[in-house]
Amino acid sequence: MGFVVAIDGPAASGKGTLARRLAEAYGFAHLDTGLLYRAVARILIDKNRPLEDEQAAEAAAAALNLAYVEESRLRGAEMGRAASIVSAYPAVRRALVDFQRRFAEQEPGAVLDGRDIGTVICPDAQVKLFVTASTEERARRRHRELALRGEDIGYEAVLEDLRARDARDSGRATAPLKQAEGAHVLDTSALDIEEALAHARRIVDAARTGA
Ligand code: DC
Repeated sequence: MGFVVAIDGPAASGKGTLARRLAEAYGFAHLDTGLLYRAVARILIDKNRPLEDEQAAEAAAAALNLAYVEESRLRGAEMGRAASIVSAYPAVRRALVDFQRRFAEQEPGAVLDGRDIGTVICPDAQVKLFVTASTEERARRRHRELALRGEDIGYEAVLEDLRARDARDSGRATAPLKQAEGAHVLDTSALDIEEALAHARRIVDAARTGA
């Protein structure tokens, strides 16, 4: 079992970039677990199945492999919304647990980011981070990111969308987004990525040296 860094937080909190940079810094594998739920949603949409079809979503999750998890087709706002819907189904979440746990076992270590990594998937992770930022700052970041992709839906629409997503991700019965026990809270509202990374590295370094 390698060293596990579990990162959770709301949409557009900066957790994805932080996870990727941390993994690079330590030579660890990285899994953006949101992509798994986005891939499940994508399969339903490609098959013309409604997102409400829980059984089809479970079947898609059970058959998922990394070949479906091709980022460019999964990144958009529509897929994020759709992922937030299918990720509320307990059977979908269950079907993805083993895959994520196996990923976390890699040597020398792994960084997983999502909503339930420190609470459900890797509760024994050596480091747990809860990355957050104000709703307005997250909306500004997401708006900029979408505009760069040519998907400028306007700041207000992004803000509304984030609020709806937060409510759904935090309010669902199974594995809702919440701070794990023992998690370090990293509020990135006033931090750029280098500052957030430096902060996270201090936490990881301390845990690795047993400080
Ligand atoms: O992190 P993201 O925006 O790619 O996630 C998309 C949706 O997937 C998010 O709204 C909730 C869901 N998700 C989840 O339920 N559990 C995870 N570990 C990761 C994502």
